[in-house]
Amino acid sequence: PHREYFAERLLAWYRRGKRDLPWRRSRDPYHIWVSEVMLQQTRVETVIPYYHRFLERFPTIDALAAAPEEEVLKLWEGLGYYSRARNLQSAVREVKERYGGVVPDTKEDIATLKGVGPYTSGAILSIAYNKPEPAVDGNVMRVLARFFLIEEDIMKPGTRTVMEKLARSLIPDGEAGDFNQALMEFGALVCSPRSPQCLTCPVMERCAARHEGREDDLPVKKKA
Ligand code: ADE
Repeated sequence: PHREYFAERLLAWYRRGKRDLPWRRSRDPYHIWVSEVMLQQTRVETVIPYYHRFLERFPTIDALAAAPEEEVLKLWEGLGYYSRARNLQSAVREVKERYGGVVPDTKEDIATLKGVGPYTSGAILSIAYNKPEPAVDGNVMRVLARFFLIEEDIMKPGTRTVMEKLARSLIPDGEAGDFNQALMEFGALVCSPRSPQCLTCPVMERCAARHEGREDDLPVKKKA
């Protein structure tokens, strides 16, 4: 009931006003992969020029697999968390060796790649292959915790499983890629960590946290 409302309205909101981001112009799984790895710990505006430079120099899996590591790291300079770049290059080499250069399209296979956790695997499967897999990061957990009033501590490992189950159940048929990106976009632009923009929110009417005046208290995040 509220689930369909939430999914439909969020998707409509996204289609109306989504940002024109460079990786949204591609369905190439490798391009999506690069963007998601860069976006993991880095803001969208920072990522954009790095994304362009990186793919200009390494437009394909073959190009990245063949490059000297120091050249890859050089293009990563300023983004930080260099293990992301090293893992990406190792994983791309695995794709070349084990999957003939085609990014796998199943959870089981993709999860074996270096640095590809549940979030990245869900993002690639849904955005590039439109498979109905959830892509749950901190932003998505915040959105779900608020709308559905989930009070479990998001630092607890079990909470992620709960969130993934819920997120999976929300995906409208055939719309996984757009729906997952709608959730990310909404978490970034409207349902922000502090001072969420409830007055412009497309799902405010049925938001459980808003009804209780508790949007600022959610998600629950206890210190480790
Ligand atoms: N953050 C993580 N993935 C993203 C995407 N595909 N678009 C915008 N922000 C993101």
